[in-house]
Amino acid sequence: MDWGLANRLHRILKPATGRTVMLAVDHGYFLGPTSGLEDPRRTLAPLLPYADSLMVTRGVLRTCVPAQADLPIVLRVSGGTSIHSELSQEGLTTAVDDAIRLNAAALTLSVFVGAPGERETLLNLGKLVDAGERHGIPVLAVTAVGREMTRDVRYLGLACRICAEIGAHYVKTYYCEDFERVVEAVPVPIVIAGGKKLPERDALRLCHAAIRAGAAGVDMGRNIWQSQSPVAMIRAVAAVVHDGASVEAACDAYETLSRGASSLAQAPLTT
Ligand code: R5P
Repeated sequence: MDWGLANRLHRILKPATGRTVMLAVDHGYFLGPTSGLEDPRRTLAPLLPYADSLMVTRGVLRTCVPAQADLPIVLRVSGGTSIHSELSQEGLTTAVDDAIRLNAAALTLSVFVGAPGERETLLNLGKLVDAGERHGIPVLAVTAVGREMTRDVRYLGLACRICAEIGAHYVKTYYCEDFERVVEAVPVPIVIAGGKKLPERDALRLCHAAIRAGAAGVDMGRNIWQSQSPVAMIRAVAAVVHDGASVEAACDAYETLSRGASSLAQAPLTT
């Protein structure tokens, strides 16, 4: 791997743990102003200090993220569909020169295995990896799951492996039972999406199970910014991802931080 590409990747996957807490706020690219992200600037401001990287479109990056922000940007460069159309038919929406202008640490797109847009989105992945390799920018492939796809080890394993074979430098997918088997069969790091909002304990349990199964972290959105206490939640997730916190310890940390105990809010979380 070229030095520049490896360096960008290690800005996301923190060298101390090899893991990452990515904050996903790209949902508006097909969902519009979804609940909790109506005003991205307001949602993001308190969370930025706690995220290892930010997954975002160029529009929200330019308008809602201060240029002083000291965190790597994983730039979503695919889209072209909405909740009113066939979601799988995404194309590339953002040129690599613009990603470079925006100082992106990585590029990301969705691929839709088993859906009408399968061929096009996988070919897009190939083109993006070619461009990323040319410029030293890693590519995160997001395995999007259509309503009719079962989120099981067979399907997710297939989708993730195809992404790695085409050259994705890391892959995002959903957690499933036997997730170890997905991880084993994919030779690049895997991060998991959070999915729909769950009770905080369940979301922390999901993170914990994914990390134990070998995930390199999370790329989480709704379970953080739709939480009653987004900052407490992202800090509890980070405790699981980076500090090996148990589910119980992370839940306690969430409760304590969300009650606003200011001394603890400043202290590092422990297991
Ligand atoms: C979905 O289209 C986006 O790529 C999100 O970034 C992804 O689903 C992760 O967000 P969440 O944790 O809300 O599922």
